[in-house]
Parts: sequence; C-alpha cells; structure tokens
Amino acid sequence: MQPRATLRYKRWLESNPRCSDEVAIVKSTSAFSAILSAGLFIVACQSLVSSSSDDRAQPGTLSFDEIEARLAAPGAHVAFVPTEPLGISTRFASVIPLDNPLTPAKVELGRQLYFDKRLSLDQTVSCATCHDPQKGWTDNLPVSSGIKGQKGGRSAPTVINRLLGKSQFWDGRAATLEEQAVGPIGNPIEMGFTTEGAAQRLNSIPGYRVQFERVFGGAASPEFIGKAIAAFERGIVSGANKNDYYEAALPYFDREIEADDEPEFKAKVEKALDGEKAHRMSEAAERGRALYFGKASCSLCHVGEDLTDELFHNLGVGFDQPKPDLGRFDKTGIEADKGAFRTPTLRNIALTAPYMHDGSAKTLMDVVEHYDKGGIANPWLSNKIVPLKLTPEEKQDLVTFMEEALTGSITPVEVPRLP
Ligand code: HEC
Ligand code: HEC
Repeated sequence: MQPRATLRYKRWLESNPRCSDEVAIVKSTSAFSAILSAGLFIVACQSLVSSSSDDRAQPGTLSFDEIEARLAAPGAHVAFVPTEPLGISTRFASVIPLDNPLTPAKVELGRQLYFDKRLSLDQTVSCATCHDPQKGWTDNLPVSSGIKGQKGGRSAPTVINRLLGKSQFWDGRAATLEEQAVGPIGNPIEMGFTTEGAAQRLNSIPGYRVQFERVFGGAASPEFIGKAIAAFERGIVSGANKNDYYEAALPYFDREIEADDEPEFKAKVEKALDGEKAHRMSEAAERGRALYFGKASCSLCHVGEDLTDELFHNLGVGFDQPKPDLGRFDKTGIEADKGAFRTPTLRNIALTAPYMHDGSAKTLMDVVEHYDKGGIANPWLSNKIVPLKLTPEEKQDLVTFMEEALTGSITPVEVPRLP
C-alpha cells in the first residue's frame, strides 16, 4: 500500500513531467519519502519548471522564496523515522539520537550541505566528491583526493546504512555521525577548512541562514552543521537484496501450510516465499552463499543485518608495504589492535571497488584471493584468518554471491539545487 500522499504526489508529477528534481525520492515507498513528498517537495517542484539539471549543486540555484515556502510547508518540522527495508531488523527509531530527530526540513538542509563545495576552503570539494551517490556513495578510487588534489592513505567507505554503525571510520575513532560529519571539513587534506570558517561562510548566505534558524533556532554553527548532515546520512538506507529475500523465506522452505494455520500466518509465509521466488539468486550465488557461511567462514566477521560484527580485525592488508597503517591501534594504543580495521558492511559491495582500507584490492576476486591465501603474515594477524583452500570454481561462486545477492535497494537521493 502506498501512502496517500505519495500517490497524490505521483499523480501531480505526471502532469508536471519536467519536475525531475525530486522524482527519484518518490520512487521509494517508505515513510521517509511519503513525508518528503507530502510536504516540502511539492512546493519545491512547482517553481522548478525553468531549471535544468545543470543547476544541480550550483550555488544560487535555489531561491530564497522557494526555501521559505519549503520551510513553511505542512509537516516540514515534524519528526519522522525512515522505514526499515527488508533485511534490517533494527528499529531505526532506536538508533536515531533523541537530541537530533529527523525532520524533512533538517534532512533537506543536510542534503544541501552534503553536496555543497563551499564547505571546503577553496570551494572545490564536497562530501559527495568522495562519497558520490552514483558510485555506491564512494569515489571508486583506491584513496581519495581532497583539496588541491592531496591524497590520504585510506579509501572512502560508503555512507549507506551508517545509522546502523556502532562507530565511524575504518578505525572507529568517531563515536557518532554528528562527530564524524564535521571531521572532513577541518581535515587539511580533505576539505582543508575549519568548521567555524564553514559556519561563518554559510551564515553569509541568506538561504542557509534562514534554514539554520528555522530548523535549529540559531545561526549555523559546527554543532548544527554536524547535526544536519548526520540527519541526512541517517536517511540513506539499504536492504531488500536477494540474500534478504532468501533469509526471509528460509524458515518456511520446508514447511507445509496446514489447514488449521492462522490466515495471518499463511499470508506471511506466502509473502516470504513469493518474495524469494521473485528475487531468486542464481545457483552459483546460492553455492557462494553456502561457502560464505561455511567453508570460507566469511560470516565469522561479516555477519548480522549489515553483514558486519562492528569489530576490528587485522587481515594483514598493507603489511606488504614498508610502513603499514596501524589502524585501530592509533585510537586505542593497545598492542593487539595494530593493523586492525573495522569489518565493513558487504551490502552493495559490487558498487564500491576498489576494496580494503587502502584500496589495494581492485576486484572482489582479489579480495577472495587475499583470504584464500590466509591474509598477509604479521605478528597481529587475526586467528580467524587462515588459508581456505578454495577451488577456482568456489572462488568464483563467492564473488557471484557478493555481486549478485548483496546488491539491494538504496534510498534514492537526487543532487539538490543550492541557496
Ligand atoms: C577527500 C575525500 C573525502 C571527503 C571530502 C569526505 N570524506 Fe568522508 N571519508 C573519506 C575517507 C578516506 C574516509 C575513511 C577515513 C578513515 O577511516 O580514516 C571517510 C569516512 C567517512 C565516514 C565513515 C564511514 C564508515 O564506514 O565508518 C562517513 C560517514 C563520511 N566519511 C562522511 C563524510 C561527510 C558527511 C563528508 C562531508 C562533510 C565527508 N565524508 C567528506 C573521504 C572523504
Ligand atoms: C576476521 C574477520 C573477517 C573475516 C573472517 C572475513 N572478513 Fe572480510 N573484512 C574484514 C575486515 C576487518 C575488512 C577490512 C580490512 C582492511 O581494510 O584492512 C574486510 C574487508 C572485506 C572486503 C572489502 C570491503 C570494502 O568495503 O573494501 C570484502 C569484499 C570482504 N572483506 C569479503 C570477505 C569475504 C568474501 C570473506 C570470506 C572469504 C571475508 N571477508 C572474511 C573482516 C573479515
């Protein structure tokens, strides 16, 4: 069932075909989109008729009047919780901090900030430069380039499903998304600015100033910038891949429907089985799945709804280089943490090559080869990393499982116009 607001908005869009700015958001049937489409974007879109896609992320393409109208739209400041996609069992309401609820107006402000290069010192780099929705929310580079083309030592992770993360960054050094979001702005080789400088710049732009005032009750500040971007990021969620459909149906594969089963139960079983049938993985992927949970023991670490244990392990990545990155050790100072990095999610992994914290694995087959040979020897190697003795067919099946069965729905987000 689609929320009525979404349906109404869809019909409205059909009669306004040039209004493409927010169309993608409406394709999702989540409550998130229902609220966005019910309120803000109808107003936003009505005055969009003269703008083209070249306006995206360009300063001055979103007028003050439009911003005012969005802020005044019904529901703009009403808190909402994104709908959990299939495969995600955590209730999102339980992981959204009480002091930073999502509202359509706040998420919209965060969206603008996320794509705005004015948050970097020389106005050349935005969050989206390194975490691009077109590239699985990464940059598809081994290591990222910040302002003046400077390169860091680590690969940009995806920002999908970060609301499920117990910590942020490869080494877990940021506890919250609020804390994480302001980090890159002040990082000399990323955006090279200060958060105070960024806040000051935003306050000189009337369209931003009014949004901060109406959303947070004050001028832009490092705290409010962090909160708005974190709220936006919490709306980017992924699920409903073939593996999720498989797991939803798994308990019922061998169960016969009995005559005296409750109708509700019957409907649930049928829905799960039909879903799996409509999204069935290939036989090769299913063999890969068995290896993943069995012989190849990937699920020792890549486990649970986001396919990560949220813990830190040393796989020896980078230990064939002269000065390996010590990862988690730099945060904790604990010897056993040397060279350990947080287990990344494997959702949508096909979209985010190259792999590992240093981008040293070009393909998923390279990753599998790394595990097959038992990682790279070093004094801190995880005892879970041992030679796997996979056959060439088994390696290919594992890759097929990851590519085919772990790619799922992602909240569609359009590049915004900016004040
Ligand atoms: C120059 C490229 C670059 C820019 C610009 C950038 N990031 Fe990142 N981002 C990275 C890299 C590289 C990492 C991993 C760093 C680490 O773990 O030490 C990262 C990590 C993250 C993480 C942690 C993800 C995880 O799995 O723990 C989030 C969230 C994130 N960035 C969001 C943002 C936001 C929001 C902005 C804008 C304010 C931004 N990034 C700007 C490159 C960039
Ligand atoms: C001991 C825990 C552990 C086991 C077992 C494990 N992984 Fe990992 N995986 C990690 C960690 C930690 C990283 C990041 C390592 C780094 O960059 O230094 C990682 C990285 C990856 C990446 C790259 C992700 C990215 O975003 O760059 C892929 C793909 C992957 N693992 C797949 C697998 C597969 C397939 C298996 C089974 C053959 C497996 N993993 C077994 C912990 C584990």
